[in-house]
Amino acid sequence: MKNPFQYGGIVSGPYFADRSQELNTLLREMENNNRVFLVSPRRFGKTCLLHQLTGNLADAGVACAVIDLNAFPDLRSFAGALTVRITRALESNTDRLLKLFSGFQRLRPRLSLDRDGNVSAGLELADGETDALAALVEGLAHAQDLAARKKKRLVVIMDEFSDIARYNGLTVEKAMRSEIQKHDRIGYIFSGSEQSVMLAMVQDSTRAFYKMGRIMKLGPIRRQAYHRFILGWLEKGAYQVAGDDIQRLFDIGEDVPYNIQRLCHAMWESALESKIVDAALINRLPVIIARQDSPHYEMLWQTATQAQKALLFALAGDPEALPFSKDFQMRHGIGPSSSIKASLDSLVKKGILYRTLEGRFRFVDRFMPFWIDDMRDGI
Ligand SMILES: Nc1ncnc2c1ncn2[C@@H]1O[C@H](COP(=O)(O)OP(=O)(O)O)[C@@H](O)[C@H]1O
Ligand SMILES: [Mg+2]
Repeated sequence: MKNPFQYGGIVSGPYFADRSQELNTLLREMENNNRVFLVSPRRFGKTCLLHQLTGNLADAGVACAVIDLNAFPDLRSFAGALTVRITRALESNTDRLLKLFSGFQRLRPRLSLDRDGNVSAGLELADGETDALAALVEGLAHAQDLAARKKKRLVVIMDEFSDIARYNGLTVEKAMRSEIQKHDRIGYIFSGSEQSVMLAMVQDSTRAFYKMGRIMKLGPIRRQAYHRFILGWLEKGAYQVAGDDIQRLFDIGEDVPYNIQRLCHAMWESALESKIVDAALINRLPVIIARQDSPHYEMLWQTATQAQKALLFALAGDPEALPFSKDFQMRHGIGPSSSIKASLDSLVKKGILYRTLEGRFRFVDRFMPFWIDDMRDGI
């Protein structure tokens, strides 16, 4: 039996845990053709949730187009790809699709061969056309018209939408808003991990997307439901486990779905032979994972200065500490505060640490402090 706890990509079907309430909320919002800004830190499961949602929407007969802004370096490629996906979502017949593609003013069809030798049609900016933004607006307007003609509802999902800033965001937002607000057959979901960027977009009264939709903050997966999901799979795999021991996983993984999946994946593999999961095994999991990822940590480690390394050692062993407190500095023999501040700033910039609202500094990667401890124990 293959390991049911997957990570690193989209998990779906029986491998997707819970999120029933979030799915219901999103389905309801989309039924009303609303606009939702879905926000959470990375690895909380936005992309997985949206993928699951598209399945549910398809079951309900709603067309759905998903685009990840990360994959498109500039506005022209984004405008082309978005229009292709929207049109495909509403028209499955190839002949009619091609006809629709050739009806655009600012975009023109481009045929290409995929690996299996099938012809697929895309769209690119027409020769001599420089206005990618106008092409995007044409694509969006066309979506509403086509949906109306087909008497269908459409949901457009834009993942990693905070990346819009790369396309000269403010102008793009303005043009998008004036088009989107005319759309009564389309629901929109804008999803993003850059929380401050996403919130500013909707909450700042000078911005085009101000109050254009509701903000939905995606939290962790509910423990009770996730617990049931994990136990269910362990039972299927004939593992022996005490339900209470599983609770520990949520604490170690700080309820971040990616962390929990990693822990469960390692747990499954580690007990593949014995079929026994106990507290001792669960406590060993973070180090097992840290060792698996050690090439990655070694690379990060090499980028750190001596002072930064000393600070990382201190924080790995003392995660609740306030780094500017005398007590912390004395205990670990580091300081003064000015040099700690410089180190912290640099480590945050490198994406190794992040600052909590309470002024603590935590590791972005939950398993890195275990790697640091493990390395020190090995010295
Ligand atoms: N509902 C879920 N069930 C199981 N695993 C999940 C779920 N949501 C997220 N994950 C785990 O977290 C990882 C990251 O999820 P992802 O959707 O890529 O997060 P985000 O888009 O918020 O960065 C996935 O690869 C998967 O391992
Ligand atoms: Mg994502």
